[in-house]
Amino acid sequence: MTITFPQHLLSIDDLSLAQIQQVFVVADQASHAKSADLSPKHQVVANLFFENSTRTRCSFEIAAKKIGAEVMNFDFQTSSIHKGETWLDTVDNLQAMGVNYFVIRHREEEFPFKVARHLGERASVINAGNGSQEHPTQALLDAYTLSRHFSDFAQLKIAIVGDIRHSRVAHSNVKLLTKLGVKDIRLVGPASLLPTATTVHCEQNLLAGIEGVDVVMMLRIQKERIDTLDLDDAAYHADYGLTVDKLRSADPKALVMHPGPINRGLELTSEVADGPQSIILEQVRNGVFIRMAVLKLLKNTF
Ligand code: NCD
Repeated sequence: MTITFPQHLLSIDDLSLAQIQQVFVVADQASHAKSADLSPKHQVVANLFFENSTRTRCSFEIAAKKIGAEVMNFDFQTSSIHKGETWLDTVDNLQAMGVNYFVIRHREEEFPFKVARHLGERASVINAGNGSQEHPTQALLDAYTLSRHFSDFAQLKIAIVGDIRHSRVAHSNVKLLTKLGVKDIRLVGPASLLPTATTVHCEQNLLAGIEGVDVVMMLRIQKERIDTLDLDDAAYHADYGLTVDKLRSADPKALVMHPGPINRGLELTSEVADGPQSIILEQVRNGVFIRMAVLKLLKNTF
């Protein structure tokens, strides 16, 4: 059976369960393959990152190179945007030079949607993080990593801990894990960092929130998205920082995840981040395979 994909990946909403499973199958192939056979039809990927990034940008670059594509890292600082050129003109020019895949990170939530609408069928847009809204490839790599440890998503108990309100990673993960059948998701954090409107179970007490869970996904406080932050780091760590001791509240075999960048000593201690239950670097490794799969699978008629 051939599974057709959308042209853009802007939100987890763009993917059906069958498509998500196909991404995982191709990510598996990518983890074994010599990769030439994963090459997309056209081969120029542009990274347009207007917010800081280490993992996501490098991961897309490595993924693109592994499947034999050309990669262009657009340098916002030295670009003609500073001479008054609009974003859409910049995108048109890059597309005219042969860019087929635009990997975009921007603080404005509408931005990747605007670019996708503007490009029509001329190129694909992959959302690499739009403000607080979504980060679909991060959620895919997180769920793919979990699929390598657990066979049945329906049985999983997952706590997502920290700044849920401003986290695009949390938002995409809640959507994706729900699609995959996870029934017990708990959002844990102080009231000021929990979502204001959600149907997902929220919990302000860390120990109660992670009690008996199979997975604890820790998040960084998105200080750059919060105008007035009334949170003291030491107090936050005392209440929500994951330590070896507090982790005992979870299932003894519980796995600890974090999308990075981690703030050691704030949302989790080094003992936890580097400890036997941590799969943080495994997430990073799988991110390359997921991005190879996504670049390979998105529909292109251009
Ligand atoms: C996250 C992001 O940028 O959304 N990092 C990532 O992509 N791996 C999380 C964060 O910045 O805290």
